[in-house]
Amino acid sequence: MNGHRTDIESTFLEKVGKRRERVVVRSPGRVNLIGEHTDYNEGFVLPASVDKALVFVVSPRTDGMCYFYAADLRDEFSVPIFSIERTRKGWPNYLLGVIEEMKKMGFDVHGCDVVFGGDIPIGAGMSSSAAVECGFAFALNRLFDFGISRMDLVKLGQRSENNFVGLNCGIMDQFVNIFGEDKKVLKIDCRSLSYEYFPFERNDLAIVLCETEAKRSLASSEYNIRRQQCEAGVRVLQNHRAEIRSLRDVSPEFLKEHRDEMEPIVFRRCAYVVEENGRVLKACEDLHQNDFRSFGEQMYRSHSGLRDGYQVSSPDLDFLVESASSIDGVLGARMMGAGFGGCTINLVERESVDAFVDEMKGRYRQRTGRANNVYVTHIQSGTRLLPLIES
Ligand code: GLA
Repeated sequence: MNGHRTDIESTFLEKVGKRRERVVVRSPGRVNLIGEHTDYNEGFVLPASVDKALVFVVSPRTDGMCYFYAADLRDEFSVPIFSIERTRKGWPNYLLGVIEEMKKMGFDVHGCDVVFGGDIPIGAGMSSSAAVECGFAFALNRLFDFGISRMDLVKLGQRSENNFVGLNCGIMDQFVNIFGEDKKVLKIDCRSLSYEYFPFERNDLAIVLCETEAKRSLASSEYNIRRQQCEAGVRVLQNHRAEIRSLRDVSPEFLKEHRDEMEPIVFRRCAYVVEENGRVLKACEDLHQNDFRSFGEQMYRSHSGLRDGYQVSSPDLDFLVESASSIDGVLGARMMGAGFGGCTINLVERESVDAFVDEMKGRYRQRTGRANNVYVTHIQSGTRLLPLIES
């Protein structure tokens, strides 16, 4: 991370120049231990912020322009603050959306210079998008002293993705980006937005991510379709109990009773979500009991549900999970994030990690003829201000 910080600060010097008034912010990627596609159904999730992160350097301008430089893409973008529109370029929208949402809240956002970059792999399912949105929102909030609360930054990040980028995402990624803590996983109740930390510091266990190289091209259209299917299921169930607001209010039994009233595909989607919520609660109990075997079992079940019921997995992801399950020392494995590519998350006994990494890389190469990234991640705090280093 320090390496990235230095790189981004020197890129800032090169592109923008020396600025006394500036903020430097670290904004991490995330993993999700369990609870996939439950957040927008007002359910439960169990993510954590990690050691892969973006660094932002942001300083104010007086000419009403916004200048963005994405160091990893070596690409830049400029726009006057008063005429912000969606751009076909793609990446600037994640920043522009934040400015738009702040303006809607009534904040007087000024022009600024922004240089950012880091080591969160793009499209790997670690939510680099929330890291951009929340890191930038956090930086502007500090720079211009807006006094926006952490919870409002979370909601603002989510709205900017919903309204400006066009993905109808839930709140998990932005939430854990801001509220994540060192060595803890975060259980979020996505209805009440209450949350609870669980220590997840185990010297004998590691969280290992195995990437597929498939970028999640299908993800956004299919994601929005899954949301609609869940809503269609809720509408059927509301005919019987008007108080039902989301799949969070539905028991497996009640859903089954009304199975014949919905399209089979809608039933399958709903059944997955209802079961996944149950698995998150069970997994949290397992954490209380220190029972990581049972926790790992929930992860495997989650994957089966995502593959067969929610149908957001891919042959490569299934292959990685199946391979992992046959390797000694693996307690659990599943696809992570929206799906259709990205990576798997694996819970592995520390003493088996080296062998696991080698074996998984070897098997993936044998299957696809290509190399993939496999790496151990560590849980680190959510978005924070970094102290300025005066040169
Ligand atoms: C993406 C979204 C999240 C969540 C996950 C699936 O990461 O941004 O809100 O829905 O997919 O669990």
